[in-house]
Amino acid sequence: MDRILNLRKYHRPVLLREVLEVLDLSPHLIVVDATFGFGGHAFEIARKVDPGVLIGFEKDPDTYRIVSESLPPITNVRLLNMGYERMDEGLLKVGIFNVDRVLFDLGISSFSLEGSGRGFSFRRDEILDLRFNPNEGIPAYEFLNRASEREIAEILRKYGEERKSNLIARAIVENRPIKTTGDLARIVDKFYSPKLRNKAKARVWQALRIHVNDELNNLKRGLALALKYLKLGGILAVVTFHSLEDRAVKSLKFFPFLKPITKKPILPNEDEVSKNPRSRSAKLRAYMKVEEVDALRLINDSRFADPFPKARVPRRRIKHRRR
Ligand SMILES: C[S@@+](CC[C@H](N)C(=O)[O-])C[C@H]1O[C@@H](n2cnc3c(N)ncnc32)[C@H](O)[C@@H]1O
Repeated sequence: MDRILNLRKYHRPVLLREVLEVLDLSPHLIVVDATFGFGGHAFEIARKVDPGVLIGFEKDPDTYRIVSESLPPITNVRLLNMGYERMDEGLLKVGIFNVDRVLFDLGISSFSLEGSGRGFSFRRDEILDLRFNPNEGIPAYEFLNRASEREIAEILRKYGEERKSNLIARAIVENRPIKTTGDLARIVDKFYSPKLRNKAKARVWQALRIHVNDELNNLKRGLALALKYLKLGGILAVVTFHSLEDRAVKSLKFFPFLKPITKKPILPNEDEVSKNPRSRSAKLRAYMKVEEVDALRLINDSRFADPFPKARVPRRRIKHRRR
């Protein structure tokens, strides 16, 4: 127990009470925590569903190692070092094909920001990597050194909603090679007054992180797989931390196989925000699965979990065509 509580020093769970409430947990349930992190939600869930099981997905190998070393020898937690976009493979590995609850907590952990050394925080001078799993894909600095000015501008605009994306992209190309957070921070700072710099860097970092981790495609795939494996009457809960993620999750309410449980997103209260300022942008939405779902069709449905306003799902509910 002490070892598990000790993990809180790496990350403090956000909206914990509210997540446990919407998940409506009871013994014997099978739950997936798609973003296990340091188990801030997962260990509480596992305790409530015991003798049920919690299956955790965690993409970051360092986080996985730290948590694995803290797991008690007898536990109802099965932890996989795997992205939730591979949920089908993970569930096959543990031999489970139907689950009662799925949780996604999409932020980054305090450990990623402060202890991973991969440049997630623009406040620390580190290599600008930004990958959750450094064995997959290419680091952010390599993307910035290889991509065309147009490609960089497009990523900053699309994933960071950055108004000065063209100017920043040009300055990046003119100042290559980029290697560290400091290299990029100095470029972004040039375009903003000191008061606006941190918000601008937050947008640029968000954009690059989404790009190098292919976060929006992975989220779409992860959500579709979660919906496939959820039992009828099962609950999906998602905590988001920025508008693109939130819009993707909000768009689920237009699909008739889901019934929204949260009419409006649940936000952290003042007390939580004052104790944990990182929780301030969190939004929790939850849905109940009420009809069977064809995951393959969903993944290929451009309206599913789409965060971009132009292609947004129309206001009326989408008819679910059966084959
Ligand atoms: C906000 S943290 C989760 C914190 C956790 N709920 C807790 O309270 O300890 C998000 C976690 O998701 C992990 N992650 C990011 N992308 C992932 C993916 N595609 N699949 C699985 N885990 C992912 C990150 O490494 C990070 O540990």
